[in-house]
Amino acid sequence: MTISTHSALLTRIVDDLAEQGWSLQPWFAPQTLTLELAEECRKRAAQGELTPASIGRGTGQEIREGVRGDRIQWLDAGLAPACDQYLALMDGLRQALNRELYLGLEEYECHFALYPPGAFYQKHLDRFRDDDRRAVSAVFYLNPDWQPEQGGALRLYLADATTRDVPPEAGSLLVFLSADMPHEVLPATRERLSLTGWFRRRGDNPL
Ligand code: OGA
Ligand code: MN
Repeated sequence: MTISTHSALLTRIVDDLAEQGWSLQPWFAPQTLTLELAEECRKRAAQGELTPASIGRGTGQEIREGVRGDRIQWLDAGLAPACDQYLALMDGLRQALNRELYLGLEEYECHFALYPPGAFYQKHLDRFRDDDRRAVSAVFYLNPDWQPEQGGALRLYLADATTRDVPPEAGSLLVFLSADMPHEVLPATRERLSLTGWFRRRGDNPL
């Protein structure tokens, strides 16, 4: 991907977010990087590094498989070259969002997520009730050749009371405003991998 096609892509995301609160880009990253990230996620899962995801935050955190059934691993800088490349791409997006929409996003946090067959995540908002720092959600999918009958869509509940199902196809990036967009992950018949993350504003009251 050339630098100019990449900046055109960032512009499309910014414009979509401003107009409709969400954006889907089917070819966000080079295929080699997507496949390396999928490999990295699978390797870490096989080594037992992914742990059951919790809901809520701080002392209110709890694991409830009836609400969400994925296993996750947070990404820190230096974990693997492919992960660092992905973090660099997302930092470019963060800067574009700040430049064009004045969102004041200070950081990006993300984790690998693996949903075993049958796992789901019930309808929710990504912004916590007691912490409004998460402003923009971004989910990057890592599953080559995803077929519609395999399920596993992310269902967005849009402002006009319609829904939009996004298949978790490798290379697609879905971006949406964390406070405004209820969504859920539907169960799939095959393992479903993603990199899920959030751009955060500075907290007035850091906990
Ligand atoms: C989440 C989430 C969506 C997905 O982790 O909050 O909504 O498609 N993930 O994995
Ligand atoms: Mn979510």
